[in-house]
Amino acid sequence: MKAYRAAILRFDPAREAARSAIYEDDGLLVVGPDADGTQRVQAVGPYQDLRQRFAQVPVEHLPGRIIAPGFVDMHNHFPQTNVIGSPADGLLPWLEHYTFPEESRFSDPAYCAESAAFFIAELLRNGVTTALTFASSHPASVSALFDEALRRRLRLITGLCLMDRHAPPGVLNAASTDGRLDATQQSLIDSEILIQQWHGRDRLGYAITPRFAPSCSDAQLRGAGELAARYPDVWIQSHVAENRDEIEWARKLFPASASYLATYGDFGLLRRRAVYGHCIHFDDADRALMRDSGAAAAVCPSSNLFLGSGYFDFAAADRVGMAYGLASDVGGGTSFSPFHTMLAAYYVGRSGQGKPALSLSAQHLWWQHTAGAAQALGLAGMVGNLTPGCEADFVVLNPQATPLLARRTACANSLDELLFALIVLGDDRLVEKTVISQALLTIPAN
Ligand code: GUN
Ligand code: ZN
Repeated sequence: MKAYRAAILRFDPAREAARSAIYEDDGLLVVGPDADGTQRVQAVGPYQDLRQRFAQVPVEHLPGRIIAPGFVDMHNHFPQTNVIGSPADGLLPWLEHYTFPEESRFSDPAYCAESAAFFIAELLRNGVTTALTFASSHPASVSALFDEALRRRLRLITGLCLMDRHAPPGVLNAASTDGRLDATQQSLIDSEILIQQWHGRDRLGYAITPRFAPSCSDAQLRGAGELAARYPDVWIQSHVAENRDEIEWARKLFPASASYLATYGDFGLLRRRAVYGHCIHFDDADRALMRDSGAAAAVCPSSNLFLGSGYFDFAAADRVGMAYGLASDVGGGTSFSPFHTMLAAYYVGRSGQGKPALSLSAQHLWWQHTAGAAQALGLAGMVGNLTPGCEADFVVLNPQATPLLARRTACANSLDELLFALIVLGDDRLVEKTVISQALLTIPAN
């Protein structure tokens, strides 16, 4: 066992999300291995209350630092690191001019391995310890990312990007080399092989990953839905209702479905552990469909602002009871930093589409990127929090990391003021260390 003494932030699952933060100025976090060797939180609370009980446990004292749960990034793209900051007139031109050409480079396994190492190091440097990630349409990209996540012990869920139409050949799924199976059949076989190889191994999970309905034939979506039924614990990830041109295209391609979102339901792709990126241009029927099916939204505010896609409606999601959490959507998103994502979510709430402006509280934003995102992924109580039993993934934040952070946080008068200052002024410099559960692997962040 090992203990850490510092200020500690965690969330009370029994309380309303927007008021669920618990903050100990002088706290103790005690971690130790379970029977399976996983390092979990054994106890957490005020230092004075716990120090006698754990008097034998070595303590690492981190004065002036804040320990907080590792961040959960619910949607990002490993092959898009080099696309960050590519301006375009909206989603579809962005995909065509920047994203598809870059993703076609992932046919090269050496490029996959080099990019995977960078991508995972960047997540950890920014304090992300759990991620749901798109790979490219090449099986080697999935294996490279899983290999690297296993090596660095990140809790990672990813899958082969399914796309058998409406993109250049280099970025579409490939037919079998002997020509006996077409790209659709081969992509579904590859997905199943990858599920069997990787799902549930160590901290890894597989996600069936149709890119979005316009890039998949009916046969591919049907096959993906059949896989999802056969492997109910495997995740599903895709995109929906991000951009008006995309929606119009999807409606033309699948006119029989009641809505763009309903198309996924018609192919068996709406269920628990299904996570849809964006979910902006929804009506309440869509939100209710998400809620009733157990699917969750990955809200990608920096991407939505950058690509001019629109504004996620937090109030409507809460009113209907649709699950959601925050995501970077790198490389449509502009940063790996959860602090930038939380700030962008705040801007989205404030700007929201002519509706009354919403002021998301700092603790609500933080929850959406930790415990709330974990809950939306079906991992509540496992990651995204520091309550006893959670895997011991956490960040050590240094509120003195920059002169401005030091000055502003020193005069914060409440927890919300402190958390807001960190959100507004924070970036990778704030993350002094990221500690990963399994081997208590400490990654110096900078
Ligand atoms: N829709 C389909 N593919 C993508 C993608 O790569 N990024 C985003 N933001 N939306 C998509
Ligand atoms: Zn995306």
